[in-house]
Amino acid sequence: MTTKNNIPLESRLPKTYRIKEIRRETAKVQTFTFDVSLGAQPGQFIMLWLPGVDEKPMSVAYDDEKGLKITFFAVGCMTEKLAQCKVGDLVGLRGPFGTHYEWKPRQRLALVAGGYGAAPMYFAARKASEDGCKLDVFVGARSAEHLLYIKELEDLRGATVHIATDDGSRGFRGYNVEVLKQQIEKGNSFDQIFACGPEMMIKAVSALSADYKIPSQLSLERYMKCGYGLCGNCVVDPLGIRLCKDGPVIKNDLCQKILEFGKYHRDDLGKKHEF
Ligand SMILES: Cc1cc2nc3c(=O)[nH]c(=O)nc-3n(C[C@H](O)[C@H](O)[C@H](O)COP(=O)(O)OP(=O)(O)OC[C@H]3O[C@@H](n4cnc5c(N)ncnc54)[C@H](O)[C@@H]3O)c2cc1C
Ligand code: FES
Repeated sequence: MTTKNNIPLESRLPKTYRIKEIRRETAKVQTFTFDVSLGAQPGQFIMLWLPGVDEKPMSVAYDDEKGLKITFFAVGCMTEKLAQCKVGDLVGLRGPFGTHYEWKPRQRLALVAGGYGAAPMYFAARKASEDGCKLDVFVGARSAEHLLYIKELEDLRGATVHIATDDGSRGFRGYNVEVLKQQIEKGNSFDQIFACGPEMMIKAVSALSADYKIPSQLSLERYMKCGYGLCGNCVVDPLGIRLCKDGPVIKNDLCQKILEFGKYHRDDLGKKHEF
């Protein structure tokens, strides 16, 4: 994974862009497209500033010369306001920040996505597919209406999509990590596993990756403020690494040394919250 040590000043300062296109994915999820490329790699994030409200990290759902996309859940103060924006409204973007997923051409990859993690996983899947990789993508959600990026993933060359829902309303009833385990036990071998989603899903992927000795790259999130290693808000115990700079995408051997992984995270004031 690549750490951007020298983030140029222009990437650290927000610039405002108009929302070019809005796509409603589900009742609570929207995708915004901006008429700019920030040169982001799959797994990196940007800081999105809603003037007068707040600024929050968002994974890049796609970035090329045709534009940059983010996909977000309206869950709280800032994202609910963001969900009310219209095409043509101005928001601030800065970045891209953090590490990204890495693969070699023609590798066989297992991609595990939960919640909005399906967006950065689609970005990784599309780029890896262009590099001739063979992909198995395991998408999980609470129920069928919460699944994201299924059609886009199914359209990718070399990709097989496996769906799991908690209530069984589409695909396997249960967790996507269980479906990955079944595939491994059937004899499917993978060069690497990538994962992005809720921390307890990442924890299960981490354990599977260690048990079956398959290298993995996992996206870990903590409360982020500056996004480029300055404020220390995203530091994890006991390593002291900053997940905005040394992450969010980290290898499993490093992830397993993080004491708080799957146990607790800290809020904007540094107070601990258990998962
Ligand atoms: C590297 C990174 C990438 C992210 N990518 C995306 C993305 O692509 N799409 C997306 O919808 N969200 C993403 N998030 C989470 C996003 O930043 C939070 O949803 C957002 O901060 C919520 O802000 P809010 O003001 O609307 O909610 P708040 O009022 O701050 O909180 C509402 C709820 O969301 C939870 N929450 C707040 N911040 C976070 C956080 N950093 N991580 C997890 N839960 C949080 C709170 O605990 C609370 O339960 C990402 C977070 C990180 C760290
Ligand atoms: S968010 Fe400031 S150091 Fe990571």
